[in-house]
Order: sequence, then structure tokens, then C-alpha cells
Amino acid sequence: IKILTIIGARPQIIKAAAISRSIKNKFQTKIKEVIVHTGQHYDANMSEVFFEELQIPKPDYNLNIGSGKHGNQTGKMISGIEEILETEKPNFMVIYGDTNSTLAGAISASKMHVQVVHIEAGLRSFNKSMPEEINRIVSDHVSTYLFPPTQTGVDNLKREGFNLESNPPFTIDNPGIFNLGDVMLDNSLYFSEIAESSNVLEILDLEKNKYVLATIHRNNNTDDKERLKQIFKSLHHISRQENVKIVLPLHPRTLKQRKVLLDESFSKELDENKNLIIIEPVSFLEMIALEKNAKLIITDSGGVQKEAFFFSKPCIILRQETEWVEIVESGAARLCDANFEMIIESYYWFDKNQNIQAANLYGDGTAAEKILQLLLND
Ligand code: UD1
Ligand code: UDP
Repeated sequence: IKILTIIGARPQIIKAAAISRSIKNKFQTKIKEVIVHTGQHYDANMSEVFFEELQIPKPDYNLNIGSGKHGNQTGKMISGIEEILETEKPNFMVIYGDTNSTLAGAISASKMHVQVVHIEAGLRSFNKSMPEEINRIVSDHVSTYLFPPTQTGVDNLKREGFNLESNPPFTIDNPGIFNLGDVMLDNSLYFSEIAESSNVLEILDLEKNKYVLATIHRNNNTDDKERLKQIFKSLHHISRQENVKIVLPLHPRTLKQRKVLLDESFSKELDENKNLIIIEPVSFLEMIALEKNAKLIITDSGGVQKEAFFFSKPCIILRQETEWVEIVESGAARLCDANFEMIIESYYWFDKNQNIQAANLYGDGTAAEKILQLLLND
């Protein structure tokens, strides 16, 4: 069979590594994968670095769409993907997560009667002001195979009217829903040991379990002056007050918005704070090394929240809600919004309550293989 994979944003490139690896190891003679990169992320440290390090085959096509307003960006992607579908005529299109590249893949394939396989289906924040929430809902409702990574995802789909007991043959009107685990766990387990050889801690002069790792990129945090200020104020405060190093590999969006939205004097203070180590985005192996050895993680990223959990690290989530509710329910993470007091309070709380037990909520690390086997059997 031929599958056409759509990637575009950093987390999708990483997720795709699990499927590509499984094809190479187990299904090389049975599955041909054609990879289409929309070009949504294009900086070397947001895209290229992952292909080399995670041994993902180079994309067969790169649409080079780049950044833009939602409609413009998504529209160009749909148009480009449509052309490729006409040439390639795949059996399945695989899409990941909830970005504009996911949505573009879902729309182009479903209208051309190519079966859509949505990996990381069913997740909801119940907040439609998030662009990702719209992307998820639309993608799920035009998919033929939905692979929610959690029971919560399955429950959300049931609530939206999906039939969990549907029988083959699966179609867009009779989709199949299967929780086979999370491909991100596959990756974290697989690369965890390999990441031991990273020297990122030495380069940044960090001591194991003595520093905090942070990431910020959600649009409602980066594009809102007050929220962005509250978040930076919190990081500034913790790092100075507690004399703890905070490493912040900064997403290009946040780098840009920081310059525009933060006062010059506050920005200067941040630059002068030697404990706040603001660096460019790091590679996945470096990120895993940083996550595994951090004492605590502060983030608004979906992927980083989960990796914190996989590595039993407490996590302060810079959002009001999360799609990964089971992590919060387990006590391993706290929703702190962009609220200075809540962030600080949770920092001290986790300082005293470091005992996070990673429960088995995301499968057993073989999600990619199970997904591919299921597609082959049908
Ligand atoms: C996108 C996804 C988001 C995901 C995130 C992962 C959408 C709507 N959002 O958000 O769900 O969590 O990726 O990182 O699809 N930029 C660069 N270089 C790059 C890429 C982006 O400078 O290589 C800058 C540009 O100024 C661009 C901005 O970042 O305008 C935002 O990029 P975009 O891809 O639109 O959204 P993200 O915020 O990255
Ligand atoms: N990541 C990375 N380098 C970084 C920041 C994040 O490799 O500098 C990885 C991280 O380990 C996770 C994924 O990128 O696997 C998460 O992507 P991101 O935070 O951009 O998006 P989200 O998961 O929120 O959609």
C-alpha cells in the first residue's frame, strides 16, 4: 500500500519519525511512504535538524509554503497537496495532530476520496478560540481512521457522535476508531537512551536536577502583551529569587513577539539576568536530554507537557486548559494559565512534592507499529 504523510510543523516532523521508523524496521516490503512537507516550519532548527537526527527520510515533496495568515497559508497548502494527490494516488493520507498542515491535508484528501488517517485524533480543549481546536474538529470529522492516543480522546469522539463499535469496511461515513497508544511515547522511549550522549548540559553549564526547562509558543501567550509579560515576569522572578537556572529554548514566534510586546526596560532586565538562559530552539535529542535532567518543566506546549510526564517531571502548564487532562488529574502537572501568582505558588508546591509517578496512560511505546499493522489488515 502507499501512504502519503503530511508534515509541516516541528511536532509533526517528530511524530512522523515513529511511523517512518516502523515502516523501515517492519513493513519495508509492504508499505511505501511518500512524505510531503508543507514548509509551515522552515528554519533549520525548526525542521531540517529533526530529519537528520531522527533519521526521517527526506521529504519527497516540499511545498515551501512558509508563514502567513491562516487562510492564506492553509489555502496554499490545500492547493499544493491536491496536485500531489493527483500524481501519487495513495491509498491513505496520514495526518498528525492539529496544525494548519493537518487541516490542509484533511480537506484536500477527503474531497479527493483518499482515506484520511488521523494520528492524535479526538483531543479537545473545548476552547474554539484556539486555531488548533478548529483544526482538530474538522480533521476528525473527515477522517476514515481515527487514532486517539488516550481514553480521553476516545470519550471525546463518542460525545461528538462517533460510533466506537463501527465495523469494517471503514469509510469517511463509517470511520474506525482505535486507541493504540501515543506515537510520542514511542519516540521518547526510543530516543531516551540515545539522548544520553548529548552534551547539551555541559554546553549550557547545567547541573542535573537543579535547573528548570521552559518553552513558550502558544499564540494566545505570544500575541497578548499582558500574558507574555506575566510569563516572563514569573520566569525572571523564580530564576532570581531561587537562584535557579531556567533554560528557555525560544520558538521563533516568541522571539519575534518578545521584541514587539515587552517594554525595552523589562527586556533589558531579562537580558541581564544570568540565570535566565534564552537560547535558540534545540534539537529533539537535546530537548530530551534537557527534559530528563530538569527539576521542573514550565510550558504551554502539548508535546512538552507529555514528555515531562513520560520522564516523571513536574510540569507547570501555561494555559487555562489542556487536551492532556489525565496528566493534570494524576497530579503531575498544574494548570497555571499566564498567572504570576499561580505559577510561583505551583513552583514552590512542586519543589516540595517532586514524587511524580508516570502512570501507563499512553500505551506501551509500540503505537506506530500497531497503527501500520491495522492499516495493512484492512
Ligand atoms: C504552529 C501550530 C501549533 C503548534 C506549533 C508547533 C498552527 C495554527 N499552529 O504554531 O499548533 O503547536 O506550530 O511549534 O498550525 N516562524 C519562523 N520560522 C519558522 C516557523 C515559524 O520564524 O520556521 C515564525 C513566523 O514569524 C511565523 C510564526 O513563527 O509567522 C508562527 O508560525 P506558524 O507556523 O504560523 O505557527 P506556530 O506558532 O509555529
Ligand atoms: N522540541 C524540540 N526543541 C525545542 C522545543 C521543542 O525538539 O527547542 C520538541 C519537544 O521535545 C516536543 C515537540 O518539539 O517533542 C513539541 O513541539 P511544540 O512545542 O513546538 O508544539 P506542540 O507540541 O505544542 O504542538
